[in-house]
Amino acid sequence: MQRIVAPSMLSADFGHLERDTRMIDRSAARWVHIDVMDGVFVPNISFGFPVLKAIRKATAKCLDVHLMIVRPERYVERFVEAGADIVTFHLEAAADPRACAALIRRAGARPGVSIKPATPVGALRELLPEVDLVLVMSVEPGFGGQQFMPAALDKVRELRALAAGLRPELLIEVDGGISSRNAGALYEAGADALVAGNAVFGAANPEDEILNILNS
Ligand code: DX5
Ligand code: ZN
Repeated sequence: MQRIVAPSMLSADFGHLERDTRMIDRSAARWVHIDVMDGVFVPNISFGFPVLKAIRKATAKCLDVHLMIVRPERYVERFVEAGADIVTFHLEAAADPRACAALIRRAGARPGVSIKPATPVGALRELLPEVDLVLVMSVEPGFGGQQFMPAALDKVRELRALAAGLRPELLIEVDGGISSRNAGALYEAGADALVAGNAVFGAANPEDEILNILNS
């Protein structure tokens, strides 16, 4: 099983967006995680298209866009145009999740779906064959720097078992409170990709911290 780290730009220094993106670009991280918040689905507002485009210019790595917005189907094509490689929307936010995933695929990106801590894995059963990735939230979405919720480990195991029958190539990503302290257990539970904001950008040496997560 592959191990992917996706540093979250939400914890980057927005005054030095290019510098921080280039740091990820030369690091061992394979994805760049981009958190888009609308102030409605979550009680916080982050950034949108212009910032995504600026990040796109500074890296060739996979741009992993996490939409925390209501009615994501209105905007997914524009995120693909702005440079997203993966577009992940929230199951709780989409009127028609299957149609939203199809729209993302037709626009040329890989569709992902995310579930909040209170949403059970079983709610994904119908949608699994239609998506390339599931993002399991291990904190309430909205803010970086929160504490990891250990229940996410069981969700990853349950999802891996469910996917074995329905979507064997499914990528499982986990987001929230991840560091080298819990990364090893998450990879072992069946996660392919781990998002890390505070752990990476709060470290004295972010590139070393990325390696620590990968090797944990
Ligand atoms: C939270 C975001 C996360 C956040 C993770 O809503 O989806 O991607 O940036 O930050 P840390 O790793 O600090 O919990
Ligand atoms: Zn995220």
